[in-house]
Amino acid sequence: MRRIAVVNGPNLNLLGTREPEIYGTLTLAGIEARIAAYAAERGLEVRCEQYNGEGQIVDALHRLSAWAEGIVLNPAAYTHYAIAIRDAIAAIRIPVVEVHLTDLAERAKREPFRAISVTAEVCIAQIGGLGPDSYLRGIDALLAHAG
Ligand code: DQA
Repeated sequence: MRRIAVVNGPNLNLLGTREPEIYGTLTLAGIEARIAAYAAERGLEVRCEQYNGEGQIVDALHRLSAWAEGIVLNPAAYTHYAIAIRDAIAAIRIPVVEVHLTDLAERAKREPFRAISVTAEVCIAQIGGLGPDSYLRGIDALLAHAG
């Protein structure tokens, strides 16, 4: 595997100031810098993109699947109900890992509706609860999947 893409969904452009007690204080640019360094150490090319719209994410998955050999995706709130994104993941012929900053199943901290993911089933793995490291473990999962 030589080329990977990282796609972030809605409101993640506001990381740093968005509910920092839940999502931390690192900005999306800061997370992307960590991803770029981690990928470079492993000889991977990486493209990072962020979209607030569901259709934009569907389009990005279609387009990036022609370039990348794997995708790390944080669908954000779309995780919980966006069937079009689920169908796009199932349609493209490259592995997708779903990642989240938070642990969606942690009942004490997260609302029950967040425990439901309609996208995870069509991904090779779901990784969450590690903050920005979730993205790095997502890259690891893609590399392990590639063998
Ligand atoms: C999130 C969790 C989602 O429930 C939420 O809507 C987000 C971020 C996470 O990374 O923890 O926007 O995907």
